[in-house]
Amino acid sequence: MQKIVFLPDKNSMIWIAITLGIAATGVNAQLTTQSSIAPHLRECYMDPLLLDRNNLPPTTLPVLIDIIQKIEDDPNVNMDLRQLIVQLLHTYKQDGIEFHQPNANVPMSNFLLPYAPTFHSFHRHRLLLTKIIPASSQTLPNNTISSALKCALHHMMSITVDGRVRGNEQNCNQLAQYRALRTARDIPRNLNKDDVEILDLDTMKLAKTMGQMRHFNPKDDVEYTNTGGSQSERQVLGESQCPLLGGVVFTRWGAVAAGHLLAGIAGGAQFQRIQVSDLIRGSTSNYQVPQSTISSLYASTISGDLAEAVLIQGTERGTNSITVGVAGNWNSTQAPRYYMLHNRVNVEVTDPELRGDIDGFVLGTLLNTNVADASSVRLSQLLDMYYSPRNGVFDQNRRACNRRQLRQETITRDVLVSETSAFVAALDTNMPLRGTIVSGLEQLVSTAAENFQSYTTNSLNDLSCVNTETTTNDYRLKTNLYLVVDATWPYQAIYPAISYLLDNVEVGKYGSSVTLLNAFDGSIVINKTFSLADFHTQYTLARHQAMFNGVNLESTLTNVRTLMQNELDYEKSTNYVGGNSTVLLFLLNSGNLQINVPVIEEARKINETIPDLRILFATSTNQFDSLWRMVRDMHNDIRTISLNTEGTNVEVTMSPVLSRIQMVGRRIVNSNCGSTFEGQLTSGNRQFDDYLEPGYTNYYSISPNYFFGNANRKIRISRTGGGAGSLVICQSRRFPQPRQNLTVAGVDANSVTCQNLVSGNVEISLQSACEGFWTIGSCPNFFISVQSQVPDGSSLTRICNEPACRFPYSIRYQVQIEELGCFSGAGTVRISSILVLSVIFLCVLNKV
Ligand SMILES: *[C@@H]1O[C@H](CO)[C@@H](O)[C@H](O)[C@H]1NC(C)=O
Ligand SMILES: *[C@@H]1O[C@H](CO)[C@@H](O)[C@H](O)[C@H]1NC(C)=O
Ligand SMILES: *[C@@H]1O[C@H](CO)[C@@H](O)[C@H](O)[C@H]1NC(C)=O
Ligand SMILES: *[C@@H]1O[C@H](CO)[C@@H](O)[C@H](O)[C@H]1NC(C)=O
Ligand SMILES: *[C@@H]1O[C@H](CO)[C@@H](O)[C@H](O)[C@H]1NC(C)=O
Repeated sequence: MQKIVFLPDKNSMIWIAITLGIAATGVNAQLTTQSSIAPHLRECYMDPLLLDRNNLPPTTLPVLIDIIQKIEDDPNVNMDLRQLIVQLLHTYKQDGIEFHQPNANVPMSNFLLPYAPTFHSFHRHRLLLTKIIPASSQTLPNNTISSALKCALHHMMSITVDGRVRGNEQNCNQLAQYRALRTARDIPRNLNKDDVEILDLDTMKLAKTMGQMRHFNPKDDVEYTNTGGSQSERQVLGESQCPLLGGVVFTRWGAVAAGHLLAGIAGGAQFQRIQVSDLIRGSTSNYQVPQSTISSLYASTISGDLAEAVLIQGTERGTNSITVGVAGNWNSTQAPRYYMLHNRVNVEVTDPELRGDIDGFVLGTLLNTNVADASSVRLSQLLDMYYSPRNGVFDQNRRACNRRQLRQETITRDVLVSETSAFVAALDTNMPLRGTIVSGLEQLVSTAAENFQSYTTNSLNDLSCVNTETTTNDYRLKTNLYLVVDATWPYQAIYPAISYLLDNVEVGKYGSSVTLLNAFDGSIVINKTFSLADFHTQYTLARHQAMFNGVNLESTLTNVRTLMQNELDYEKSTNYVGGNSTVLLFLLNSGNLQINVPVIEEARKINETIPDLRILFATSTNQFDSLWRMVRDMHNDIRTISLNTEGTNVEVTMSPVLSRIQMVGRRIVNSNCGSTFEGQLTSGNRQFDDYLEPGYTNYYSISPNYFFGNANRKIRISRTGGGAGSLVICQSRRFPQPRQNLTVAGVDANSVTCQNLVSGNVEISLQSACEGFWTIGSCPNFFISVQSQVPDGSSLTRICNEPACRFPYSIRYQVQIEELGCFSGAGTVRISSILVLSVIFLCVLNKV
């Protein structure tokens, strides 16, 4: 099958130029179902910067959620889940786009777009978006997201297989290490089936059939005139042993085809039964139709994929049993962008598509049955709940880790077989094929359904719920993370490490922020952002290489101090009482750091005037002897990290740094202090709201700078929203993460105190909390935790409607401060004799 893919003559050039011009005026969703690349997506294939996927954010679930949140938050987009999901599919999804090798005699030019939607997945896509999830009259404004995010979203949602030889196929066989890291089940699989297939010559020869040109098919409505050279490279060179699968996002519970996932949600949110006769192109079907209608939920997910497999494997390979499932893996452990399949044949139903089908089916069912309310739950929240480690979609059974059981509960074989048979009849007339299955179709469909069931039960062994809970934390961070990066790091080494940290501190709308500074002088390279997608779009190889090389700690610290003081003054002006922590992490590659007197002086000033800033060092060589004077806790705040340019071992190397960041509690401050700690300073009564997921804990840390001396200072915590379970408030002076039944070596019963918050509030007194300590520096922080306890199996309801709630079932509480004071380290040095004397005096009085 051929199409006009590039248009070398003059008239056509003008035509493309005109289309591109029109594209700039608005996004017409219908264009993604046309047989050329939708005009608004063309720049993703024409602009060299956007064409290089390494310049786009990684294809991960948090990035997908981040981009969806940006669209939801756009004031010009007023759509509920039901409307938005349709717009997303019609605007950003276009399946089956492939590269086509231009004729040698066609000159390369700016007017040539050597890509077109010709892979088999396009035909199902078109049927889906024209008949099953039709467009509405609404459109998304064309400036809702940047070009980079638009292209990223397009690639995450659009299934296609790129079989071109890349030149790094030697790595196909070295993937075991990644696979072993990914999921436990990959180990046995990789020992038998998959590796053999990759190397198996017979399979390779068979694979060539996938690459044969399809012949003219009267069922296809696409007009094509050129029968010469515009073969896709898959067709010409189809040799890669591990083709790239597009349209996939990384999740902890296996790679998921986001287009299938979203299509399933749409199929359920806009549920309808469609007449098969309305889907059949031309007058009659080649096949007997077992039922006259199909469900939009099945057609947009599992039946769609199985029908594709039945038709293609049945006609192209003459098989009598349909193969379901092709494993694969990402070619990097951090910031994943490329998903490689372990096989070249039978790629109609890959593992990520199976997961997307099941997840989309489950979520679509929840919307269709009003378990999740499409008019109040946002799409980003629905995804966030389903792909969460603990609570799920209002019920902990409805989580991605429970996918296998959800599949068994919701999809029955008989319904799947008849839905799939009906959709086969419809898809057949919408798709160019190399033959017609003249008999045995029923058997093909039933083997497809059976293999789907057995494969998803036995082979799709993603991270289980039990392992999910033991390998994730039951607390979330809200950290303003400042990274001071030494540009002498090779980008390939430092970028995966940074990406790992950002994923784990949960940079995001409800989580942490990141700011990137240059260790050369402390200047800002990337402004503070809560968006993973924006950070990755900015921190590219080119941006890294444009940074000045080298480390100057003195000017860096001077700039950091100014930056932090400005933050404190800003917080004073906004009466900020707390909620986030702040960590400054140096990532240094240069050796022989010079720690001279001015550097130590700067560090001292930061220490004294920015009490809650935790400074950490991670260096490529051991610099302990220089750096120990620079940190608060020299045994834990300095780490040596050995990073390599292959980006391997990141987790092992960086997890000690991460756990240090995780130990820094959220701040509670007296915002009156600002950066000067001078003036009329007691806080009076002030408060802030914070939120907690059921079963989670929030940790806070209060600096002695706010409770030194002997006033009647208090913290009160009260529950201000509904929700399941109870809250427990714990406090400690020794443990940054106090909680009930803490099981850490060396904990004595007195070092952690807990109280149940039954009604009203829990009051914690900070009076005399520095008793016995002569200086602020020697008085330890005060650590507090708020822990939600929810009986297992509690059902969760929507209780939180405000924009600050990450989840609809987030529990709201209030933290109130009373009479916090202001003591800078510097101040106490100056007035130390008076203060210390009065403290002693008070202590003596107390003891009498
Ligand atoms: C979006 O459309 C408007 C006209 O509706 C046009 O002026 C603008 O340039 C377009 N922006 C982009 C980014 O294409
Ligand atoms: C992954 O594969 C892509 C495409 O071939 C390549 O550009 C990238 O460098 C690879 N990444 C790693 C870490 O091997
Ligand atoms: C604290 O974090 C929240 C999100 O987690 C953010 O909205 C807020 O702006 C942050 N505040 C400060 C002062 O950084
Ligand atoms: C950071 O933000 C400021 C203003 O908020 C802006 O002037 C500056 O250009 C931004 N810097 C970068 C590197 O984006
Ligand atoms: C910062 O303060 C702590 C506590 O007083 C002290 O142990 C540390 O040495 C100080 N660090 C610097 C760089 O002054």
